Amino acid sequence: MEDSRIRDKNVPAGSAVLISPWLIQRHRDLWERPDEFDPDRFDTLEGKESSKCAYLPFSAGPRVCVGMAFATQEAILILSSVVRRYQLEPVLSHEPKPVGRVTIRSDNGIRVRFKLIDNEE
Ligand code: HEM
Repeated sequence: MEDSRIRDKNVPAGSAVLISPWLIQRHRDLWERPDEFDPDRFDTLEGKESSKCAYLPFSAGPRVCVGMAFATQEAILILSSVVRRYQLEPVLSHEPKPVGRVTIRSDNGIRVRFKLIDNEE
């Protein structure tokens, strides 16, 4: 709304400013071992603190995603029904190429092998 400065940069009124979840969710000052896959990090005190200010998969503030609760519930239901029936393994010959758009995704897909779990035993 008015000319500002962010650190050493001039930001004229009317500029588009992008907060990158890619960077903030991997910031070494905010996350321990930021590049490791560790779902348990959200159960630690540090992880809970960081997730309040530096975990933005659905954005934040007045334009936060209206589907956030629905999408989270849906993901939990889908994942729990899939992993009950299948063992998932990455296809190591295929390397996903991450791209940052509104969300971070793979430009060339993510290949996963589904192995049916024999629940009869
Ligand atoms: C994993 C799934 C999803 C992710 C990661 C996601 C992420 C996002 C993000 C990053 C924004 C941008 C907010 C901003 O402008 O700063 C957004 C906006 C929005 N999302 Fe989602 N979303 C998801 C699922 C959904 C679902 C299921 C719905 C509807 C049922 C939905 C409806 C919307 C709407 C309407 C907006 C615009 C909100 C506004 O501008 O006021 N999203 N979402």
